[in-house]
Order: sequence, then C-alpha cells, then structure tokens
Amino acid sequence: MSLKENIQDLLKEVSQLKAENEKELEELRIKYLSKKGVITELMKDFRNVPNEEKREIGMCINQLKTEAQNKINSIRESLQQNGAQSDTRLDLTRTAYPIALGSRHPLTLVKNEIIDIFSRLGFCLADGPEVEDDLHVFTKMNFAADHPARDMQDTFFIETNPNEVAKNIILRSHTSSVQARVMETTQPPIRIICPGRVYRNETITARAHCFFHQIEGLYVDENVSFKDLKQVLLLFAQEMFGKDTKIRLRPSYFPFTEPSAEMDISCDICGGVGCSFCKNTGWVEILGCGMVHPNVLELCGIDSKKYKGYAFGLGIERITNLKYKISDLRLFSENDKRFLEEFTSVN
Ligand code: DAH
Repeated sequence: MSLKENIQDLLKEVSQLKAENEKELEELRIKYLSKKGVITELMKDFRNVPNEEKREIGMCINQLKTEAQNKINSIRESLQQNGAQSDTRLDLTRTAYPIALGSRHPLTLVKNEIIDIFSRLGFCLADGPEVEDDLHVFTKMNFAADHPARDMQDTFFIETNPNEVAKNIILRSHTSSVQARVMETTQPPIRIICPGRVYRNETITARAHCFFHQIEGLYVDENVSFKDLKQVLLLFAQEMFGKDTKIRLRPSYFPFTEPSAEMDISCDICGGVGCSFCKNTGWVEILGCGMVHPNVLELCGIDSKKYKGYAFGLGIERITNLKYKISDLRLFSENDKRFLEEFTSVN
C-alpha cells in the first residue's frame, strides 16, 4: 500500500473515531497524536517520498493531523457534556445551594444553660399557662387584695370578673404562678424549675419590655432552710458566671416569701470594679428569693407545720445581658438577623 493510500485509510479511520470515556479518549490521542503515534511514524516515511510528491503527501499528512486533532477535541467536549448531564441525573437529591443553618436565640441558650445547672441539682421542669387566672398569679401567692400588681397599669387583663377578683383572667406577670399550680396538685418533696414568658404593662425601652422571661425555682420538703437556698444560689452563680463569682443577699420583700431577699452577683462586665452596667457598685441584681410564706403553702394545700420551702425567680434577659454583654432588651425580640447570627457558633 502506498503512503498516500495509507493516509487516505487513516483519514477515514479518524473520521469514525469513538470513545466512551476519558480513558479511551486518551488511548486515541496516544495512538494518533503522541510522539510515538501513527502520524509521527508517517513523518518518518515522508523522508523517503520522492521530491515531486513531497508537496501533495505533506498536505495530506497535515490534513490528517488536523482532522485527528479536531476529532479528539470534539469527542472530549461531548464526553464533558454527557458527564455534566449524568452528574445531574445521579445527584437529583442534592440541594442546589448550601442550606444556611439558623442559630439558637441567646435567651434559649441561656435558658438551656440554667436548666442544665439546676437539673444537675435534682430540679425537674414544670410548666404552666401564660394566660392565667388571678387565683394562681396573685391570690394563692399571698398578694393583698389591693396590691398594686393587680392594677391595670401593671398587668394585662384578658377578662375581668368584678364579683370575684380571683377569677380575673390575665397574662401572668411572673412565673411564680407555676409554684401554685404545682403545689396544689403535688405533695412534697417538690423540687422544680419553671422557665417561661411573663407579661407586664410596661413601656418598651432599652431597660424594660412588656414581655420577658423568667425561671422560677421551688423546693419544698421537711427541714428546708435558708442556708440550703443560699448554697444552691451560690453554686448556680459560680456555674453560670465562673468560680470566682461572689454573691450578696440583700433583705427584700415579696408577698409569697418570708424572709425575702434579692441576690446580687459581682459584676461580670467590669469584674467588680464598677461600670455603667452595675451603676458603679460592682454588683448586679439577678434574682429574688426567699423562704416560701406559710400562707402560700396552706393556700396550695400543703401543711406548713410539717413542710418548709424556698423559692427563687430570676430574669433570663438579665442573665443574658450579663453573659453576652447586651445592654438593650429590645434586641431580643426584634428578629434582626445580624444580631441573631452572632450566636451561630454558640451551641
Ligand atoms: N416573682 C418575682 C418577680 O417577678 C420574682 C421572685 C422573687 C420569685 C422571689 C420567687 C421569689 O420565687 O421567692 O419579681
């Protein structure tokens, strides 16, 4: 077979080349276009071509080279396209874009942390309604009939009952109502915490809001004393804010506890030296507490001669302010993504 015929056959062969995958394609490239390939071999034979035929044969070899190159390129393109299509077919379940995960709200983070600490001390979770009656929010908690908290200026009323105040339906103004709910259905020992939302008729500012969150704690048993309360609260403060945190109990008044106290912790923002958050006192109030008033025990069906109890109520916002150094309460309920996303990496 002459060199020219050989080239003609190769041209035909090249026009019918096929490859199923990249590997087969690479084999074709090596066979036709590499240094040891068919076309390089032809160039060797080309040296022996008589001068008068050189021009024609040379053009044929060039044509073969170009066509081989084009064919291989076009096979490569179609393989890549098919590959892309088959990827789509295989990955039908794949999401088209990365899903942005939400983050827990800082109040939820802090609430969970508080629950965790008290759970380790043996407290169980309890729950009660946010739309509550006066009986549980005030009457059973030993509030006097004319207590200012019962006033429309302080509490949101849903339904009033002029003949029987205890039947008024209100938005609970503190989680202490859950104490009454639990005690009227359970005999001691009782050891509960109740996280929840509470409502007060307040103008919204950086420091006050018409709704916020509390965690109520209640422990009722025989021989419960104020020192048990103090020790539990010290442990809580140190777990929450660090081992060096100090607590201070100041005498106070609540209708449902006697004696009553408010607890301060050394200011976590300035380390106790004084700043605007602690009003330069080095101390920040975080909760109210006390020994459950015997009247409350009796009103809820518990023998106050046999049993004693302590209770405490803390504001989750207050603790969160301290923990994350947030000074404006409104941020918690404005749903500003920029604020919420700051807590993405906290779990
Ligand atoms: N209920 C109180 C409030 O909302 C907080 C409180 C104080 C709860 C003393 C208690 C307690 O259980 O013993 O301000």
